Amino acid sequence: MTTSEVAQGFTSADAQADRWVDPELVSLARRAAAEGTVLLTNNGVLPLAPGEGVAVLGRVQIDWFAVGYGSGGDVNPPYTTTLLDSLTAAGVAVDTELAATYRSWCADQPSPNAEWGQWPRHYEEMPLDDEAITAAAQRARTAVVVIGRAAGEDRENVLEPGSYLLTEDERSLLARAAAAFKHTVVVIDSGNVMDLSWAEEMGIDALLLAWPGGMEGARAVADVLTGAVEPGGRLPDTIAYRYEHYPSSAFFGGKEHNTYTEDVFVGYRAFETFTPERVQFPFGHGLGYTTFALAATAPERDGDTVRLRVSATNTGRRPGSTVVQVYAAPATRAALGVPARQLVAFARTGQVVPGDSEELDLSFPVERLTSFDDSGATGHAHAWVLEAGEHALHVGLNVREATRVGAVSVVDTEVIEQLEEALAPDPAHPFERWSVSYAPDGAARRTIEPVPVRTTNLRERILARLPEPITAAPAVGSSLKDVAVGTISLDAFIASLEPEDLAELAYGDVTMNSPLGAPGNAGAFGGVRARLRERGIPAVTTTDGPSGIRVSAFASLLPCGTALASTWDPALIERMEALHAQEMLRKGSDVLLAPGMNIHRDPLCGRNFEYYSEDPLLTGACAAAYVRGIQSAGVSACPKHFVANNQETNRWVNDSRVSARALREIYLRAFRMVVAEAAPRTLMTSYNKVNGVWSYHNYDLVTTILRGEWGYEGLVITDWWAQHATDPNFAALSDSAYRLRAQADVLMPGAESWEHQKREDGHDQTILTALDPADLSGEHLTLGELQRSARNVLRLVLSSPAMERLEAQIALHLS
Ligand code: BGC
Repeated sequence: MTTSEVAQGFTSADAQADRWVDPELVSLARRAAAEGTVLLTNNGVLPLAPGEGVAVLGRVQIDWFAVGYGSGGDVNPPYTTTLLDSLTAAGVAVDTELAATYRSWCADQPSPNAEWGQWPRHYEEMPLDDEAITAAAQRARTAVVVIGRAAGEDRENVLEPGSYLLTEDERSLLARAAAAFKHTVVVIDSGNVMDLSWAEEMGIDALLLAWPGGMEGARAVADVLTGAVEPGGRLPDTIAYRYEHYPSSAFFGGKEHNTYTEDVFVGYRAFETFTPERVQFPFGHGLGYTTFALAATAPERDGDTVRLRVSATNTGRRPGSTVVQVYAAPATRAALGVPARQLVAFARTGQVVPGDSEELDLSFPVERLTSFDDSGATGHAHAWVLEAGEHALHVGLNVREATRVGAVSVVDTEVIEQLEEALAPDPAHPFERWSVSYAPDGAARRTIEPVPVRTTNLRERILARLPEPITAAPAVGSSLKDVAVGTISLDAFIASLEPEDLAELAYGDVTMNSPLGAPGNAGAFGGVRARLRERGIPAVTTTDGPSGIRVSAFASLLPCGTALASTWDPALIERMEALHAQEMLRKGSDVLLAPGMNIHRDPLCGRNFEYYSEDPLLTGACAAAYVRGIQSAGVSACPKHFVANNQETNRWVNDSRVSARALREIYLRAFRMVVAEAAPRTLMTSYNKVNGVWSYHNYDLVTTILRGEWGYEGLVITDWWAQHATDPNFAALSDSAYRLRAQADVLMPGAESWEHQKREDGHDQTILTALDPADLSGEHLTLGELQRSARNVLRLVLSSPAMERLEAQIALHLS
């Protein structure tokens, strides 16, 4: 065992070659993948009858997509599974002749190499002539056709065959299989929603949507096909007949900016309001192998809570579980344009045997019935308001089938939370947004209205709220270990640090794969310089997620975010992530750069597979469960990308222009939930600008809203590298000084930009040049601001297992 291995979090060289994975984690991953698999249609052909002959078609049965590409997919799993092997292992009577043909062809045509940002979106299909299909149909009654799509970071999916659309080869394979076999089951293994409109024309008997489920994903799909496990998934996104039907489609993919014209009408909020007929599979839809009937009590308001109970009765012939969903309709006297349906509560039953019922408590906070008024239309600008009128509640098994169970009555509009204007669009770029007006018969008409733009003076806001420098007496010569054991206060320790030390704490180590952390890490921060380690501050190791720990060593590959969201089962996510956190301890990861929790604004976003849903409540609930699980072991999660990182194209420079209302109700809302319900210790800003200001320079985003309104006390780090910019309000502040004023505490990795990364020593003097401890006017960076970020960093360091590795890191003798 070498010192360097200890420093990196390894106990021996063998650790890196160790393929052991916790069997309990494996079994939860397999369960989550099955619970996240969505059965979209089934005319009774599934589950496969015991002994049923099955011909498996499509190369993805072997070249199975277990995860997407990029930082969220670059895990080194000890193994992965294929659908063909998994079906065979499950005892399915797979047609061996066809299987042999596919095996040999796939061995000769390996799937193409994946270059960063140039990932293949699909793999060319194996040609299969009519004769081979007819012959297979004589040997087996059922065809399982597997279609696959990859997704990845730094690249969008596109509205083309081989991405959102079927290729001609796939279409032909599906059509010929459907014509030749008695039954045709289609399995879609895809990181993104893709066009499925063909399924209706082709006479498919069952359609199963399996998001990349990690190393156990293919086994989980085999479990579902055989009926060993029920397909538990419910759609976290709407599937429309055509891409052009999605509300964002006309406003997505801009090279420099995207205007969020659709505003709060994201996904089902638009479809259910304006165009229900365009939906092929509604939000929340998914079949099991049994059926359920629901009975709800009338909802009642009890102070801040709406009380509601629903009983779910298994009316079918197999045991099973279901997801009960509650949606709110707009208040009958709403002054704001509110979507026709919004998810306000959900719960999954346990296994219920036929004839039995389970009663679920679906009570929820009344604030879920509120809207954010960014214009003053209700008489209460910049406030969460509970509008007057009847708020009807609908309960069901998906958004479309939910039926009215009663209403919450509000006599006069109530202000639930009065806030101040923050993060509003730039007056230099005004735009219009969608709204809605309802006729007395309930018919909705889409309207257009101007978006309220910024009226606040950010310079004045910042100057009025400058933090004071620390007043505690400096604990000269002290160590962070003294703070850890309670001999001195953190403030006394910080007061003893020189400005140079404080500035170093604001940067990560210069590159990814820091020598201070486990090989293959994403970077380190904290004690990245010898002088800081001598003061008792260890370097903290970050590694990518969300689907596993991205290090050189082997690590478990778990279901992707969309698969997890499809479970609608936060308790399961939390249990699985608690075991994942134990693996972090074994592999030397202190901070997992996960969960990815941006909203699925558009089905073509390349990273949707890492994220959860088009709905903020489902996203927030899943992300909070994930964070609680990870942090239960003392390591940290790092929700990302804060905020409005909704496309990959030009993500470093793109400006997301979006109303304060859509930010609050859709894009910020899940982050707020995660802060309130799981207290993440770190959080990552996004690359993009939000209303003209890069998120890591964005004072209103990070200080006014995240820390001020939500009371977030953790660390904020940037996404990897940043753009150069000078603060338009304070000419002396640029780049990292501008960032610290916003309270984005650490630049990751540690160089100002890609160009600086190439230098030997990436740290420049940006912060120290901008700092003037004697100037309290705010024209320069103040000591109080520098100390404030150091406090955010050191709190995280103190909570981290890295404290145990300090001595070993010192012994590395790095500068
Ligand atoms: C991604 C982040 C990731 C980071 C480190 C960035 O390109 O956007 O999600 O955590 O790289 O790998």
